[in-house]
Amino acid sequence: PVIRRFQFNVEWKKVTRLCHTKQLLTVNGQYPGPTIAVHEGDTVEIKVNNCINENTTIHWHGVKQLRTGWADGPAYITQCPIRSGESYTYKFSVIDQRGTLWWHAHYSWQRASVHGAFIIYPRMPYPFSTFPIEAGIPLIFGEWWNGDVEEVENEMLKSGGGPNNSDAYTINGLPGPLYPCSSRDTFISTVERGKTYLLRVINGALNDELFFAIANHTLTVVEIDAAYTKPFNTTAIMIAPGQTTTLLLNTDQIQIPDHSSGILFPMAITPYVTSSFPFNNSTSIGFLRYKSRKMNKLKRKTKFPSNQIPENLPDMKDTAFATAFSNKLRSLNSPLYPCNVPKTVHKRVFVTISLNLQNCPSRKSCKGLNGKRFFASMNNQSFIRPDSSILESHYRKIATNSYSTDFPEKPITVFDYTGVNPLTKNMNTEFGTKLLAVPYGTNLEIVFQGTNFLSVENHPIHVHGHNFFVVGRGFGNFNAGRDPAKYNLVDPPERNTVAVPRGGWAAIRIKADNPGVWFIHCHLEEHTSWGLAMGLIVRNGAGDSKSLLPPPDDLPLC
Ligand code: C2O
Ligand code: CU
Repeated sequence: PVIRRFQFNVEWKKVTRLCHTKQLLTVNGQYPGPTIAVHEGDTVEIKVNNCINENTTIHWHGVKQLRTGWADGPAYITQCPIRSGESYTYKFSVIDQRGTLWWHAHYSWQRASVHGAFIIYPRMPYPFSTFPIEAGIPLIFGEWWNGDVEEVENEMLKSGGGPNNSDAYTINGLPGPLYPCSSRDTFISTVERGKTYLLRVINGALNDELFFAIANHTLTVVEIDAAYTKPFNTTAIMIAPGQTTTLLLNTDQIQIPDHSSGILFPMAITPYVTSSFPFNNSTSIGFLRYKSRKMNKLKRKTKFPSNQIPENLPDMKDTAFATAFSNKLRSLNSPLYPCNVPKTVHKRVFVTISLNLQNCPSRKSCKGLNGKRFFASMNNQSFIRPDSSILESHYRKIATNSYSTDFPEKPITVFDYTGVNPLTKNMNTEFGTKLLAVPYGTNLEIVFQGTNFLSVENHPIHVHGHNFFVVGRGFGNFNAGRDPAKYNLVDPPERNTVAVPRGGWAAIRIKADNPGVWFIHCHLEEHTSWGLAMGLIVRNGAGDSKSLLPPPDDLPLC
């Protein structure tokens, strides 16, 4: 196989947005970071040099890492952090996946600015287009804070409540003209009329699900999380942090909006939030610019009109749109790309997701809200990362009390999760590092059940090391007698991150055929910080091809 080599220097860089200049954590001085583009089947080697005064790691979000868990990246789960001045080379192959993924730092809140696109070109032609694709356009959505992001996290944990909201949403690192002092920092994608483009959309925001639309244009969804879907047309998309969506865009507009700086169609992102809890309720816009023969160069001082929010952009609270959009997603399920959803289940686990306001465990300081703080848990377990690598302990069979394999397979108390305020019922969260361990090849079903207390949005639950199939999703309490009969076992969407609806549930099936230790967590960074995480251990199967490979020599030590 072809080996593709990259070099990542994690380094500080002075960056200005909204008239605030600060040191921003970057890779190679770029924000967003460099795009990694490889071909299906390639071997990838990325040397990460830590040029900062703190720890770091990088995660290749959605890359399955078959038998190479050492390269997955989450700190203390699959590796010790790369320390200041040290390096680590991530080595893995990209097998049986194609499409848009991304990479990001997986240490504290560094991923706010340390992220980029990870594109896998398919071995075979695209199944969705017989006409040529002019170009792929990565669109990475993010959040910008005027202050230091690490301080936002520390401040959040100290105060006991939620984090300060970001100061802007960004499209490819640029907030756009709706924000103060930002007109020059506007994303513009120049395209030709009458062509087909692939938009590679990545939600890299820390804490918000987003809607996205382009004025006057219909988008065709063809792939999510690097798995092909049955194509469908839509006026807008909803995308949760961690998710990726590939869209076909036809530049087919004849009627052109009048604008002095050329033929511009606004595109926009705005959050999807289901309650009035404080959040960044702003909108970021960029532009699609049709090339014309007599097109002038955009002047550096171009003033963009600030009233150009596309009409097809859903309202921030449009749950009906978000739900209908998710329900339209289906695996392609063609002869070349069959949907391999497990039809039988060896193990069923029911996992409640909840946010709690409660006393701190003794080892954490808790000056916050009258000695209480926000925590989050799965089956009443608030996850604490150990200070050594779980994968290493597991592989070397090191006897340790830094983790255990007794993650409960149901919550401590069974009650009406969404109908009543579970304030008094779910306070008994424990703190620890419990993982679920399954034999190689287990067909695992997990039902994630959201609870209502404090919950203001969907929880985008991300599974490392495997794709899964979203066989069911609904509002209210999961009904074990009734709901499984309605599962889609024919063409459910294949993903690595699923938005578990607020006040609802999602059922996923995983074929656990990748031996190693895999993090499962909410991709809202605030919730992960509060402990909304668990781990999955997949044991080795019989024979080398079903076993984890040995660790690389340069694996960082704790
Ligand atoms: Cu995209 Cu564990 O992360
Ligand atoms: Cu969450």
